[in-house]
Amino acid sequence: AKERTLSIIKPDATQRNITGKIIDRLENAGLRVVAQKRLKLTKEQAEGFYAVHKERPFFNDLVSFMTSGPVVVQVLEGDDAVAKNREVMGATNPADAAPGTIRADFAESIEANSVHGSDAPETAEQEIAFFFKDDEIVG
Ligand code: CMP
Repeated sequence: AKERTLSIIKPDATQRNITGKIIDRLENAGLRVVAQKRLKLTKEQAEGFYAVHKERPFFNDLVSFMTSGPVVVQVLEGDDAVAKNREVMGATNPADAAPGTIRADFAESIEANSVHGSDAPETAEQEIAFFFKDDEIVG
């Protein structure tokens, strides 16, 4: 069924000017960009977005990385968008990511791993609402 997911192109990718290459992979997988903006996250935004990870040892590094440069946040739409996006991203750690996935081909490390994607439809809804108003999403 038609579904939406939240995608973030991370600072390591904006820094290397490869946002277009990443969007090409998403579109080729049948996902449609129905909302998009480029912004520099504040510390508060990054902490809020990743609140679920706040007890993790990597939390502070994650927040500083995610605020180190611009990100591109997107709403992707398509059949089984959450799962499809995760498939095209590949595993969190690029060392474990399948050949041909975004992270296998572009990510630098488990932290600088080029993209984020929602992990389930329920989280997708929350993550989309974190960044976008309804009228900013045009399907
Ligand atoms: P993301 O999908 O954005 O969600 C949380 C992020 O934490 C994850 O991608 C990784 O980039 C980052 N991260 C950094 N270190 C780790 C780690 N040791 N285990 C899991 N995620 C990590």
